Amino acid sequence: MVKKRACIFISGKGTNLINLIRKSRDYSFPISIKLVISNNNKAPGIIHAKKNKIPFLIINTKFRNYEHQILKELKRKRISIICLAGYMKIISRNFIKQFRKEIINIHPSLLPKFKGLNTFSKILKSKEKKTGCTVHYVNEKLDGGKIIFKKEFFINPKDNENELKIKTQKLEYLAFPEAIIRIYRYD
Ligand code: GRF
Repeated sequence: MVKKRACIFISGKGTNLINLIRKSRDYSFPISIKLVISNNNKAPGIIHAKKNKIPFLIINTKFRNYEHQILKELKRKRISIICLAGYMKIISRNFIKQFRKEIINIHPSLLPKFKGLNTFSKILKSKEKKTGCTVHYVNEKLDGGKIIFKKEFFINPKDNENELKIKTQKLEYLAFPEAIIRIYRYD
């Protein structure tokens, strides 16, 4: 199997990144991570790229043409899928149009519920019975692209935001790889 060349975008801890790095070591996992991009030069996740000898690029989103710089690098590295793993910047419509290949994101709720930020506090306020995570394609609408895969769990009434986050992230480590497998199932 020829693995697809992937780029992971991060802004923070990078626990999903490390999980995907581990999975991609499996010969039957459909992607190989060739690049990590962070918009935050202090993102702890960069360490995982360094430790695993994966090239990384830190971008400064204050520069007007930073997306152009990213697109150039993606082309140079022949990237065919972008996985947004806690990347806290909005991807522009123009970027999506120009990249033209797969862009996927993981979001910590059962989309279409609770798009955007402050997900866990919104979930608790709305007294949901269940929550989970969703992997979806990225389009020009925030957290609005086609859903690829979801995983859910029942909320314990005693759960606080932090507990919800821990439980959700545990599922993310299963859902993100599973979604990637599904994308390339028939290749
Ligand atoms: C994840 O929980 C994901 O749902 C959200 O950002 C978080 C990133 O966490 N989009 P990490 O950096 O992978 O640890």
